[in-house]
Amino acid sequence: MADTGTLHDAFLDELRDAYDAEKQLTKALPRMAKAASSPDLRKAFEVHLEETRGQIERLERVFEGLDEKVRGKHCDGIAGIIDEGKSVMEEDFDAATMDACLIAGGQRAEHYEMAAYGTLVAWARAMGHADAADLLQETLDEEKAADAKLSSLAEDGINQEAAQTASAEEDPEEPITTPVSARTKTSRAAAAVKAARR
Ligand SMILES: [Fe+2]
Repeated sequence: MADTGTLHDAFLDELRDAYDAEKQLTKALPRMAKAASSPDLRKAFEVHLEETRGQIERLERVFEGLDEKVRGKHCDGIAGIIDEGKSVMEEDFDAATMDACLIAGGQRAEHYEMAAYGTLVAWARAMGHADAADLLQETLDEEKAADAKLSSLAEDGINQEAAQTASAEEDPEEPITTPVSARTKTSRAAAAVKAARR
């Protein structure tokens, strides 16, 4: 049974999957930042892009610490989440709704990564790879913080603004009490798609 894979092999597979997922996200996050209308949301995506670059370096240190070649393996899971996000960005939503959707997509990615890094930390600890576990835990903490930041942006205004826009559209006779500039403004993402089609 010399060829039977071990937890070590599964661990390397998961590391390669995470490495590829982070690389895919370094391409997706700038698009999400560009599509965001809220400056705070844009900033959150830009900050997480920088963190993601650091996470890639951390994974490289994990591979090196295990004397393994730095290598990625296509991550279908994050590719699916990114694809869904791309489809949403092509929708003609008002700006606040698009921001709410960008948060929803971003949080799907964060939760996927939290699950992956949670497993990686647990497996690293179980196999006695303390240094790897510490590095992976740092990344897990960053993913959790990024997720919490997106929740707070949604709950501190973006969802409410989108909901107000929705109720204003439902009942155009009702005066709008809050100046929702987003009501008539097309989202940046939809405008970019329209411009590209011209
Ligand atoms: Fe990440």
